[in-house]
Amino acid sequence: MTYATKYGATTEIAEKIGQVLRQAGLRADVLPVDRVSALSAYKAVVLGSGVYIGQWRKEAVKFLEANETVLAEKPVWLFSSGPTGEGDPVELVQGWRFPRKLQLTIDRIGPRQVAIFHGAVDVNKLSFIEKWMLKNVKAPIGDFRDWEAITSWATAIATALKEAGLAQGAQAE
Ligand SMILES: Cc1cc2nc3c(=O)[nH]c(=O)nc-3n(C[C@H](O)[C@H](O)[C@H](O)COP(=O)(O)O)c2cc1C
Repeated sequence: MTYATKYGATTEIAEKIGQVLRQAGLRADVLPVDRVSALSAYKAVVLGSGVYIGQWRKEAVKFLEANETVLAEKPVWLFSSGPTGEGDPVELVQGWRFPRKLQLTIDRIGPRQVAIFHGAVDVNKLSFIEKWMLKNVKAPIGDFRDWEAITSWATAIATALKEAGLAQGAQAE
């Protein structure tokens, strides 16, 4: 389980997914994407990034591009942590799930699923410019993370890995 964050909302989502996988009997490391080494030792990968102006954090993009071949051989799940506000996150971002410029890379990797989860914005952490940008697009401020949606997604990952026989001593990064 690996992630890219600016302000920590995605870290907590990653930790929740890691916790669910462990509770299901899997071994899972939860690491920032720029601290992943020995990727080939893992049997599956879950990668998530916070979204900023329609883009993933650059370290997440770098990770996907640099490890495309290795990732294509493993079961991979991807998620974006983004929209704030009530309602279906996919509707909030009008169908957007990940940056368009990553489409070809993601097609080659062939992830099992690409999810988008509600994010969280803590106004106290933002720069003046970021506050102005959010105000400009009238983005709601607050913590809209949907722990139930995250838990059920992670539970489905655990089930899929077990069904694939990857549970015994398996590591899900
Ligand atoms: C300046 C700025 C721009 C953002 N742009 C987007 C965006 O384009 N799409 C989106 O869904 N969320 C956007 N968000 C919301 C963040 O992606 C969301 O709060 C996310 O959960 C933050 O993750 P992090 O704390 O791990 O960095 C933006 C937030 C900020 C502060």
